[in-house]
Amino acid sequence: MLIKQLLHSEPSDQEVVAQGWVRTRRDAKDFSFIELNDGSCLKSLQILASRNLADFDETVLKLSTGCAVRVTGKLTASPAAGQAVELTAGKLEVLGWADPDTYPLQKKRHSFEFLREIAHLRPRTNSLGAMLRVRSSLAMAVHRFFQEEGFFQVHTPVITTSDCEGAGEMFTVTTLSGTQLAHGNEPFAGDFFGRRAGLTVSGQLEAEALALALGRVYTFGPTFRAENSNTSRHLAEFWMIEPEMAFCDLAEDAALAEKFLRYLIRHTLDHCTDDLELFGKFIDQGLPERLAIVAGQEFARITYTEAVQILSEAKVKFTFPVAWGIDLQSEHERFLAEEVFKRPLIVTDYPASLKPFYMRENDDGRTVAAMDILLPGIGEIIGGSQREERYEILERRMLAAGLDLDTYRWYLDLRRYGSVPHAGFGLGFERLVQFVTGMANIRETIPFPRTPGHAEF
Ligand code: 4AD
Ligand code: MG
Repeated sequence: MLIKQLLHSEPSDQEVVAQGWVRTRRDAKDFSFIELNDGSCLKSLQILASRNLADFDETVLKLSTGCAVRVTGKLTASPAAGQAVELTAGKLEVLGWADPDTYPLQKKRHSFEFLREIAHLRPRTNSLGAMLRVRSSLAMAVHRFFQEEGFFQVHTPVITTSDCEGAGEMFTVTTLSGTQLAHGNEPFAGDFFGRRAGLTVSGQLEAEALALALGRVYTFGPTFRAENSNTSRHLAEFWMIEPEMAFCDLAEDAALAEKFLRYLIRHTLDHCTDDLELFGKFIDQGLPERLAIVAGQEFARITYTEAVQILSEAKVKFTFPVAWGIDLQSEHERFLAEEVFKRPLIVTDYPASLKPFYMRENDDGRTVAAMDILLPGIGEIIGGSQREERYEILERRMLAAGLDLDTYRWYLDLRRYGSVPHAGFGLGFERLVQFVTGMANIRETIPFPRTPGHAEF
């Protein structure tokens, strides 16, 4: 049985089996106490191993952190505080030893930097294990939310020829060798796909085609960006959730995004109590309050122009000076969410020059129907927009962005045949996990992080 189930069982005469990894061993006169964890929950099961057990000296007394064991025994009421039951061992088998002289995880707390170097073993620590359970719970909640709201899950391609965000951050996918790539004018003509292909930076463009058939769709897939930013908020490989809705404008889009975020936070508060308690205690003491704010308070809404106004009047010296037309930096976003509004904030209507070609142009001709959601402690967690549904305007903006119209002919077609107002957004899954767990660095929110210079494991 899973330790999670055993911990909630009543003491009984029936034999049960627990399997897991030893966290600690403590020896008393007649007994050894072993803390056994199987990953099913944060708590460990206490094993009571009597000196009378067969092979006690060769097995129990040699157990160290990391050893894998199978214990058969009976659940007995525990006199110790903090646990209702413990397992009195009748039999203990060692499944796998872990040499204490070389096993890198010791009982003391290790730094996250060190743990990243042993990403294959760090899931066995309390904090990474808790993060992975919360991550799984959040993923389930994402699907539940969208199914309840009438969305269909769709799968968009991982290999693509369109650079959705137009920022040139695509990883190239090729079967050509370095020498083939170096020579010839159009090296990709002879490549696997006959032209330059890359790993997707967003499933949005394809999701739009599907929303204009099914009405409400969402994708939840891996996303890749070759941006050379070594920050605590960027990964080269991350997971993004992208809903897309037909017959929808920016205000409805923002309302759905707010409802979604609050649903997800509420879900973890209800379902991941033990794990969240650990984060609140050891990772970030302000966490419970921040989660309660997101779950309980309405998000503030301002336009980009209003944001710039507030920032330029603020009595704070920013590293990046503020003026209308600049891209809001992390320091600006966090100042707005943490100091000014002290709750999540939706910023809308950014300058067109800062945003990709597909966003709907506003009547003022200089801003677009964009929205970013900023969270205290994180900054941008969601980016979305109403899409340009008018053929001529979209074509003009694509040309201005220097896009090859032939590559995007199909995308323009969606505006030629039955075009309707539509909108969507993208939520960075790791940024969400980061917000919920309070982890300082996004590299602690995915099991095997990919960042510039790092693709180990
Ligand atoms: O704002 P972004 O670039 O928006 C899009 O890609 C749109 N196509 C989404 C849409 O409208 N369907 O990215 C969306 C979110 C960001 O707000 C952020 O949370 C996350 O994706 N994100 C990253 N997360 C981790 N590492 C990175 N390098 C990220 N880049 C974006
Ligand atoms: Mg963005």
